Amino acid sequence: MLELITAGESHGAGILCVLSGFPAGFEIDLEAVCAELTRRQNCAGRSSRKDLEKNAVEVLSGMRQGRTIGSPITIFIRNADSTIDKRKPNPVPRPGHAELPGMIRYGTKDATDIAERASARETAGRVAGGAICSQLLAELGVHVFGCTIAIGSEWAEAFEIPESAIALEELRALRNSNPYYAVQATGQWDRILSGAEKEGDTVGGVFGVISVGAPPGLGRPVQWTGNLDGRIARSLMSIQAVKAVEFGAGAAGIELTGSEYHGNIEMNAEGEPAHTTRTHGGILGGMTDGTPITVRCAVKPIPTTGRDMTSVNLETGEAVKRKTERHDICAVPAASVIGEHVLAFELCRATLERFGASSVDELRERIASVD
Ligand SMILES: Cc1cc2nc3c(=O)[nH]c(=O)nc-3n(C[C@H](O)[C@H](O)[C@H](O)COP(=O)(O)O)c2cc1C
Repeated sequence: MLELITAGESHGAGILCVLSGFPAGFEIDLEAVCAELTRRQNCAGRSSRKDLEKNAVEVLSGMRQGRTIGSPITIFIRNADSTIDKRKPNPVPRPGHAELPGMIRYGTKDATDIAERASARETAGRVAGGAICSQLLAELGVHVFGCTIAIGSEWAEAFEIPESAIALEELRALRNSNPYYAVQATGQWDRILSGAEKEGDTVGGVFGVISVGAPPGLGRPVQWTGNLDGRIARSLMSIQAVKAVEFGAGAAGIELTGSEYHGNIEMNAEGEPAHTTRTHGGILGGMTDGTPITVRCAVKPIPTTGRDMTSVNLETGEAVKRKTERHDICAVPAASVIGEHVLAFELCRATLERFGASSVDELRERIASVD
């Protein structure tokens, strides 16, 4: 089974990603992996914290002469400067962060112990591992994509769901032309971000992830734990600050009647039976149905703000002001990059589970045999 774990702290030596169960014989484009880390780092909404992040990857295991060999792939992304041991104890948890429940859970009065691991810096590891999965999927004709849809409550113009790799690549070119990673950024977003920054505040928003080319039947629906929509939702929800995940029409689907929502099944251009609507988001009964997978994720505003935050000193029990610290203004563009590769990991895992292969050649043969 494909597994991805991460290790490392925000101001520690760096972030490690271990991708285990990846097939042998795949040539990883490490520059492309670094480019995805840079995309995660250099976008609208980020603070100067990103300057600490170096996007060079060191491969510690799992590859020989540029190709995977079937053993766990370990990637190390070194931080520019490790200050974790120099950071002063901080007994005051930030409202809305992981610090208060973490301090209770781990029996510490030092919020830094918790914040170091809860930080979204961890997701550099998920982007690195997921980017490797994205590359394998692309070779198999499955393409993943993430973009910003709303900053605050200001939505970008809706776009048509891409039905082919070519249509998806057109969206990718548009998305890569702006720092919000939106297919069409609105002129309002600069104003919203600079306004929030001026007010010492932060904003949330919505990002979307899409995949085209996934074959029908990925997912293991005979047991609820194997349902692919559940697995994708869990992984996306585990991204820091993501608070809602919806497929296809999502919650807005309640406005439709059954016949509007479900549409029909008809023979498509390839001569295959397929649904005519996209409301279900590409997954039915926990399995891909061959139509594009479309998911939206709502991201809450960043917990650390420049405003006075009232909290409690856990050493003394006193009500105090928690001092602010360097923070992002909006996580949505960066989260769209993380979400894209989180989706890639889940689709890669489901593909390997469905076709079970130890090498890329074997995987290609098995996929071809059911085509
Ligand atoms: C890309 C990204 C960047 C983030 N940057 C910050 C930040 O600068 N300051 C902060 O307090 N929280 C930041 N967060 C959010 C916190 O990590 C997150 O809210 C916290 O760990 C609690 O987890 P939860 O919101 O998932 O419950 C960021 C999240 C993401 C996805």
